[in-house]
Amino acid sequence: MTDTLSNAMPDPWPVLESLLLKLGDATSTNQSVSYAVESARAAVNADVAYWYSRNSGKVSALGGPREYAADRAASLARQLLGRLPAGHETLRWLNPDAMSDTIPDSAVICSDARTQGCIMALNFDPSRRFDDSDTKAVRMALKMLLAQRAQSQASTKSLLLGLLHCLTTIIDAKDPYTAGHSERVARIAVLLVKAMGLSPAIEGDVFLAGLLHDVGKIGLPDDLLQRPGRLNAEEMEEMRKHTILGDRIVASIKPFDRLRPAVRNHHEHFNGKGYPDGLAGDKIPLLARVLSVADACDAMMSPRRYRSARSPYEIDAVFTAEASQQFDPVVVRAFMAIRHQIYPPIYQKGIGESAFHAIESIVDNLTDNSMLSLPSLAK
Ligand SMILES: [Fe+2]
Ligand SMILES: [Fe+2]
Repeated sequence: MTDTLSNAMPDPWPVLESLLLKLGDATSTNQSVSYAVESARAAVNADVAYWYSRNSGKVSALGGPREYAADRAASLARQLLGRLPAGHETLRWLNPDAMSDTIPDSAVICSDARTQGCIMALNFDPSRRFDDSDTKAVRMALKMLLAQRAQSQASTKSLLLGLLHCLTTIIDAKDPYTAGHSERVARIAVLLVKAMGLSPAIEGDVFLAGLLHDVGKIGLPDDLLQRPGRLNAEEMEEMRKHTILGDRIVASIKPFDRLRPAVRNHHEHFNGKGYPDGLAGDKIPLLARVLSVADACDAMMSPRRYRSARSPYEIDAVFTAEASQQFDPVVVRAFMAIRHQIYPPIYQKGIGESAFHAIESIVDNLTDNSMLSLPSLAK
């Protein structure tokens, strides 16, 4: 009897074992999902199996020896997911009144807390109702799919981080005088969005956009970037192209696509007099308005070949004067709230943070009398 049964039912484990190999060869997410669903179906000898996305409400990889309409499959998935007890990942459902030819006699649904999708398997034959070992097999197929997905996401992440590191290193190498500028801009921009109370997701985006904002300089000639002295009008025009070149480079890296507006428009002015598109006010993308302040702050704090670094007092004065002109006044207000977190490290490089604070407090406490009491050099 046991032999007859084991011959009738497929052994799920060889099927699932071969799924491991197939997932390793998959070249897209859709292909991985198809492999997992088909293996789950074969492992439990289901009439129909498919993937249901809770995000989109759509069905994919629908297949098996029996025809089943996608809208019916989606509706059944929604109903059974609704019955899934909180904290549970699987549900085996046995139809109490298997009267209809269009409703399965048994179903297994396997979901996962981390994913928005689930695998469904259906049987329409009352003599082949699913049991616990079928539920385990479908669950195993889903877990294999998720493990493969996590692994490929991890390698995509490390690839993108490597690419970012590579790009910022190239930008720095093109103009060693501004080395580290991209990372400082990224860090200042994060402080600004925090002060503005924006969401943590925006903090991540603004950091990446800060690292990439001048990536277009890769496409400019070295001698233009390293030219001593101020640029003439023609050279300035050439330099301005880094915004459009940067936009093109970021567009070619699909996962960074949403950072394009920040990169393209970081030199726009709030009054519409910036470049490359002459956007004004709220028409300038928010992250570009943030980067504009962070970029200007780091540029003023850093010495150039033709001028020394500006003092915090001078920088404050520029931002105050240019609020609503060059810069978004809301971002300038955020800058004023966090400026103390930005300035000291600059002075560490020069005269040291403590010396800076000492001098600041002396200057703040200067009165006309103390000025007058300074020893006179004149005899
Ligand atoms: Fe720039
Ligand atoms: Fe910049």
